[in-house]
Amino acid sequence: MELKAYLAARQKEIDRALHRFLPKENARPATIHRAMHYSLFAGGKRLRPIICLATAEACGGSVQAAISLACAVECIHTYSLIHDDLPSMDNDDFRRGRPTCHKAFGEGIAVLAGDALLTIAFEIATSAPPAPRYSLRHFMREIASGAGSRRLIAGQVADLEAEGQAISRAELRYIHENKTAALLTTSIRLGAMSANASAQRLDAMTEFGESLGLAFQVIDDILDITQTSEQLGKSAGKDAAAKKATYPAVMGLEKSRAEALRLTNKAHRALEPLGAGAEKLHALAGYLLQREY
Ligand code: IPE
Ligand code: IPE
Ligand code: MG
Ligand code: MG
Ligand code: MG
Repeated sequence: MELKAYLAARQKEIDRALHRFLPKENARPATIHRAMHYSLFAGGKRLRPIICLATAEACGGSVQAAISLACAVECIHTYSLIHDDLPSMDNDDFRRGRPTCHKAFGEGIAVLAGDALLTIAFEIATSAPPAPRYSLRHFMREIASGAGSRRLIAGQVADLEAEGQAISRAELRYIHENKTAALLTTSIRLGAMSANASAQRLDAMTEFGESLGLAFQVIDDILDITQTSEQLGKSAGKDAAAKKATYPAVMGLEKSRAEALRLTNKAHRALEPLGAGAEKLHALAGYLLQREY
C-alpha cells in the first residue's frame, strides 16, 4: 500500500525529529521528561505533523523548513490529550494503546507534562526558518491562537459544558470546529506558511483544514461507537457513558457518516486550485474517511 508506506516513513521522520527536539528522558528532573516521552512516543498517528509536511510540499516548500513547526503541533496535540484524559476532564484510563499519563505518573505529573509539552512547542517552533512572507512572529501567533482560549481551549470548554445537555447542531459544530479542527487547520496553515504560500493559497488551505478537521472529529465520534478499544488504542464507548455532545448522539450514526463524507468532499474541493501537487493531501483526506469503514 503506497499510502501506508508513506505514512510509516513520515511517522519515523517525525519521531526522529521529536527525539532531537525533546530533552532526554533522564534529563533532570527525570520524572517529567519520562512522562513527556511516555505520552509523546506512545504511537500516535502523527496525523497533524504529517499533514503539515504534506501541505508544505504541496505548496512548493520543503520538509526541512516545516519539520519544527510540524513537531511543535504534535507536542501541543499530545498535551491536549494528556489534559483531556484527566479525571477532571474525560477521565480516561487508556490512550495510544497504554495507560493514560496520569494513570502511569499520577495527576500532578500529568498536568505538568501537559504544561511542559505546550511550552516546548514554542521553543521548538523558534527553529523554523522564516519565509519571505512569514516571519517567526507569524508562526508564533498562528500556534498561540490555534491552541488558545478562542480555539482549541474554547472547544474543550464547550465540550465539558455540553455534557448531559441537549444542544443545537450549531453548538455541536462550534465544539468540534474548535476542539479539533482548529489545531488541524493550524498545522496545515503552518505548512503553507513555511512554503511562503500566497494569501489566496493560504485561504484555500485554511478551508481545506476546517472541513477536514471537522470531518475528523465527526469520524472520531463515530469510531467511539463502532470500534473496539483495541482497535482505537483508547477506551471505546466513553462518549455515550459521559453523555458527550457528539454527532451520532445528536443526529444518529447514518447521518453522521453522511456528514463526514460531505465534509471530506468539501475538503477535496478546497484543494482544486493546487492541481496535481495536492495528490498526497487528497490521499490523506480519503484515508481519514476510510478509517471508519
Ligand atoms: C485524538 O486525535 C483526539 C481528537 C482530536 C479526535 P488522534 O486520533 O489524532 O490521536 P493520536 O494522535 O493518533 O493518538
Ligand atoms: C479531544 O476530543 C479533543 C482534544 C483533545 C483537544 P475527544 O475527547 O473526543 O478525544 P478522545 O476521543 O478522548 O481522543
Ligand atoms: Mg474530550
Ligand atoms: Mg476525550
Ligand atoms: Mg473522541
